[in-house]
Amino acid sequence: MNPQRILRQKLEDLQRAGITQLPRELTDLVAELSQQTAAAPKSAENPAKAVAPAKPIVTTSQPASSVKTAAAEAPVQSSTPKPEKSPPATPVTRQFLSSSSGSMPGEFSGDTARPCSTLSLDERVASLAKAAEQVAACVRCQELAETRTQTVFGVGNPDADIMYIGEAPGADEDRQGEPFVGRAGQLLDKITEACKLTREEIYICNILRCRPPGNRNPTPDEAANCREYLDAQIEAVDPEYIVCWGSVAAHNLLGTKAAIGKMRGKFFDYKGIKVLCTYHPSYLLRSPGAKKDVWADMKIFRADMGVLLD
Ligand code: URA
Repeated sequence: MNPQRILRQKLEDLQRAGITQLPRELTDLVAELSQQTAAAPKSAENPAKAVAPAKPIVTTSQPASSVKTAAAEAPVQSSTPKPEKSPPATPVTRQFLSSSSGSMPGEFSGDTARPCSTLSLDERVASLAKAAEQVAACVRCQELAETRTQTVFGVGNPDADIMYIGEAPGADEDRQGEPFVGRAGQLLDKITEACKLTREEIYICNILRCRPPGNRNPTPDEAANCREYLDAQIEAVDPEYIVCWGSVAAHNLLGTKAAIGKMRGKFFDYKGIKVLCTYHPSYLLRSPGAKKDVWADMKIFRADMGVLLD
């Protein structure tokens, strides 16, 4: 197959998977093709033109003012930064350091080691694309399938170390087909930036892939129907960390009914992935006083990754 064809297929896979930020491998290929096609006759097909270059990682040191209103902030726990994720030739194990007391069921104890995924980037992208295709055709929840504008699969880096999980698409997400693009999403972006991260580094999805009418909470049946897709996304991306935004995400992922206020501030274990649960940005919009708690959680989360926040 010629390189242009391969590239076009990759781009289609990425689009189907809702991935707007291109992985390095692909941008290198794009650069290579651009050089080749620059020397080729004008009429030659050049899909590389459609591709934006990867955005640089922003390392803002100041948290956004709307986020950092901390008065009492939790102590920062520093630990060894995780090795960079790249598909290893043979399975290896990850050993995490614990930053929790282990006093709650499912809390991260530090003894969990799990095999590092051996999926290549191509395999991650392909498996996300396959799941996205299934989701687009899904009618498991009749009411949601009948009322949605479109499904909202997920977006972001297929090779991310961090996955965000929210609740369900709202009206804006339903319209645009992307998670967290409304007011809550804008606040989430500010929190992300304050954490010295960019949205493009993260993979973002929800418990549900369809908007519940009137923004009601997902029912247990709906969450169960959508679980297969969430699991597929977690398996494909294989993040080291998951942040559950709000109680719906925390309860459904971890199978608990504990109050979110009791779950926050520590790590839970989900199949060897460190899970941090905190308040949903929509809640912060209604209760700005809770921003300081989220900021304290973010400090714990990022410190565990070796990044100290102010
Ligand atoms: N709230 C969520 O939980 N997810 C979204 O995608 C948008 C708002």
